Amino acid sequence: THGVGTSWLAGLESVARDVLPTSVFDYIRQGAGQSLSADEANAAWSRSRFIPRVLRDVSDIELATTVLGAPLASPVAVAPTTLQRLVHPEGELAMARACASAGSLMVVSSNAGTPFREIGATGVQWWLQAYLTRDRSLSEPVVDAAVDAGARAIVLTLDTPTVGTKNGIGPDFWEAVPPGTLRVNFADQRPGITGAEKATDLGPDDIARLGERTGLPIVVKGVLHPADAVRCVEAGAAAVWVSNHGGRQLDRVVSTADAVSGVVEAVGETAEVYVDGGIRSGLDVFAALATGVRCVFVGRLGLWALVAGESSVARMHEELRTELGESMRLAGARTPTEAVSMLVRNGEKGL
Ligand code: FNR
Repeated sequence: THGVGTSWLAGLESVARDVLPTSVFDYIRQGAGQSLSADEANAAWSRSRFIPRVLRDVSDIELATTVLGAPLASPVAVAPTTLQRLVHPEGELAMARACASAGSLMVVSSNAGTPFREIGATGVQWWLQAYLTRDRSLSEPVVDAAVDAGARAIVLTLDTPTVGTKNGIGPDFWEAVPPGTLRVNFADQRPGITGAEKATDLGPDDIARLGERTGLPIVVKGVLHPADAVRCVEAGAAAVWVSNHGGRQLDRVVSTADAVSGVVEAVGETAEVYVDGGIRSGLDVFAALATGVRCVFVGRLGLWALVAGESSVARMHEELRTELGESMRLAGARTPTEAVSMLVRNGEKGL
């Protein structure tokens, strides 16, 4: 990389590699199998090409947007991830405070290591990410607790009928996880409850039922096929989140950068579409917005930032905002939506 400087954001992963215990770093960094999909996620965004527009007044650009009515200072929010308290002692609380001060949104994992109420008390706008278990009644109490604690939407993860195998992350890793840092929002802490098998039979009915139970909008996470996006919206989903779980489930799964346009085309008129996977810079955010998504989520980048605590997550938001703003100005996009017309090629789809 002679002669190519590194941004603060781009350096976060190597700082995390130096600071975190090897097993924790590997758990976060790794994808499933050979990590092929995890490793190519960012490169897929870098294949986007733009034709900027000129003779446009970009003196005052607007980054603010909304997701399901929630105001965001910029179209970037934080994806659900586990084990945040292994990354930094303040874990989800540091993440939540930084998201609150940045005017962002945090999606909290149902396996989080901090009580929902404490996360809500930071004042952050937050959504619950839910996994449903084979016996639905075992996962429902967690959802109910989140509703009580102020979650504004439920993100139902659809891509995890079983947890993808990550090499080197086995029973030894999980046994070393300190008690009280995982799944603390299960009122019943018996292992048979917290470790209950995930549902392998999720169907459109689960989307509708979850909506009725919670009275909240349902976001479906982990959709890649346009036809599935249509089925989810027909079943009542308010938003479709294009994700391959950071390449942590099926290895060799398509990159989200390559799949997202098909989903936007299929449901973009009737539902909000979001995307995550491999977002590491403001230019990546711009590339994602150019496909027509309303909001972009960061998983690992937020965890790498969290290594140095709340102020570092706040800086991550700020740097992404600055870089996105620069990309928008240079492209002639005055709002996130105007980024759409600049895209000439997205991944290998060849628009
Ligand atoms: C995740 N992800 C995830 N997703 C989910 O729905 N529930 C969860 O509990 C978790 N846990 C989790 C832990 C860790 C360590 C990682 C890295 C990821 C997936 C996450 O929400 C998101 O889809 C990806 O991380 C996005 O890809 P990037 O941004 O990490 O490249």
